[in-house]
Formats: sequence, structure tokens, C-alpha cells
Amino acid sequence: MTNAPDQQTGPLTIAVIGAGGKMGMRVSNNLAKTDHVVRYAETSPAGRDRVTAAGRPVIDSAEAVPGAEVIVLAVPDLALGPVTEQLVPLADPGAIVLTLDPAAAYAGLLTTRDDVIMGVAHPCHPSLFLQRASAAEWADTFGGIAAPQDVVAAIESDDPAKKSILEAVVRVLYAPVIDVHWVTVKQLAQLEPTLVDTVACMVGRLLNEALDEAVHTMGVPEPAARAILLGHTQIALANGLRGDNPFSDACLIAMDYGREAIIKDDWKKIFTDEELDQNLARMLHLDTISR
Ligand SMILES: NC(=O)c1ccc[n+]([C@@H]2O[C@H](COP(=O)([O-])OP(=O)(O)OC[C@H]3O[C@@H](n4cnc5c(N)ncnc54)[C@H](O)[C@@H]3O)[C@@H](O)[C@H]2O)c1
Repeated sequence: MTNAPDQQTGPLTIAVIGAGGKMGMRVSNNLAKTDHVVRYAETSPAGRDRVTAAGRPVIDSAEAVPGAEVIVLAVPDLALGPVTEQLVPLADPGAIVLTLDPAAAYAGLLTTRDDVIMGVAHPCHPSLFLQRASAAEWADTFGGIAAPQDVVAAIESDDPAKKSILEAVVRVLYAPVIDVHWVTVKQLAQLEPTLVDTVACMVGRLLNEALDEAVHTMGVPEPAARAILLGHTQIALANGLRGDNPFSDACLIAMDYGREAIIKDDWKKIFTDEELDQNLARMLHLDTISR
């Protein structure tokens, strides 16, 4: 955790659009602790109530954007097209418009301007192998509260000053942050959704379904099934991702059976551009992705 943002850039004017949503509240909680001048915009009544209950004033998006150096779009991915169509024309020249997920940017749904810089920054969430030092760090599985995490980001500008501003802001939004990894928008879209949603999150839910089967189909007492699954999930990930221990010979045979029974031979097609487009089209409720 290096480079305190305020020391790097000085106070900035930052607009948070969608400040009452899940990410909007998270990033606003962290921005509110800094010297940055933060403007909070939110349209839904429930969202506005959340912002004001946190002691933050709500203003209209059209007022929040002019004069802002960084505009954080914490609105749903499906709203990013209309929201950028409305707000990007209001941004100052040189402003940075930041989205929190790459899908809409990669799908070409955003309104852009030559003199406005587009960026994307997605939190990695605290690592499974993070050495946590406190109960607060253990409780913070999402990140952005107590447990340090990395961030993967993309910026569509070669200007190092803009990259530095964006990194400083991203380090606040998702604080505490260890490293910010810079990739292209396309690479970010390959990581999220393909690597993490399509594979990792799917496997997480599959584990829960397997637990359910052990309890309800096979009739194993739930505490026994849960205990053995949670411990073995840790060792499976430590061995599988980090090589901590070799899997036993018998386990390797059972793993082969699982792979043959569960995984399709052509599963790695999910890493092709065509499948990425289909995946994103489904996520964004589009017939096709056209860039
Ligand atoms: N939720 C997560 O775990 C998570 C994690 C990483 C990134 N993201 C990304 O963050 C972004 C926001 O997702 P979320 O889950 O916080 O959504 P959300 O639905 O919880 O919140 C979105 C908020 O935006 C508000 N809003 C919609 N249109 C608006 C407008 N025109 N002006 C002002 N406010 C408007 C909504 O009222 C709502 O309060 C998405 O791009 C998402 O992909 C979400």
C-alpha cells in the first residue's frame, strides 16, 4: 500500500454517479474519508435515501459532471449506454470517465469523446491467500473496507499524468489497495467475465450444489458434509493454484473421473473472442456484440 493519493495528485473534484447503489456506496464511503471534493448523484428514491442517510448530499448528475476531473459511473452495466450518452457531452475536456466493469466499454456501448479519457477499474477482491492480520480483514471478503486487494485497470490514454490521477483515485475507491495492474479494456473483459465469473464463480456455485447433493441426495449430515467440503476446498485450491502439496495418487484418479464426468472436452473455447462476445451479449441483453 504505497503512494497516498492525496500526496500524488492533490485534491480532485470527483463525481460519483449512482452513489446510492452497491458499488456507489462502497466507493463513496472511501472517497468521503479523503480531501477530494466529491459530488454524489443518484436517481432512485431508495438510492438517494441511502446517500443522505450516510450524511452525503445528493445532486443531479447534470450538475455533478461539469468541472469534475474524474467521473465515476457506478450505475448498472445496462444503464452505461444511456448514462454516457447524457453525461459525457457535459464533461470538461481532459476529464476521466471511469466505469467499474469492462463489459459495456468492450462491447462499444459507451458514448465517448476525443477529449474525454475513458477508464475502467475492477477490484480483484482480497486474495484467498492473503495473510490477514485482524478480524476486520477476515470479515472483509469483498474488499474495500479492511482487507488489502489488487485492482485491474485500463485507461484509453497515453498521458502519464492521467494514468497517475486514475491510479490515485482507484487506490481510494477500492482501498486498501496493494497493486494496480494495467491491462487493455479487452484483457480486462477477458479476465472479467471469462476467467472469474464464467469459471471461478461458476465453480463456487457448483461447490454449493455439490454440498446440497451430499446432504439431500446422499443423506450425509449437513455439518459433516460442510466441514469436509470447506477444508478440502482450501486444500484443493492451495494445491491446485499454488502447488502447496501433491494430490494423493487415489485423489488424482478421482479427479480424472470428475473431469471426465463433469467437464466438456471443448470447454477452453470460452477463451476465444467469439465466445467472449456471446457471453457479453448475454450479460448485456444484446442480440450480438458489434464493435
Ligand atoms: N456489485 C458488485 O459486486 C460489483 C463489483 C464490481 C463492479 N461492479 C460494477 O459496478 C457498477 C454498478 O454496479 P452495482 O452492483 O453497484 O449496481 P446497483 O444496481 O447496486 O447500483 C446502481 C445505482 O445506480 C443508480 N442509477 C441508475 N441510473 C442512474 C443515473 N442515470 N444517474 C444516477 N444514478 C443512477 C441506481 O439507482 C442504483 O442506485 C456496474 O458497472 C457493475 O458491473 C459491481
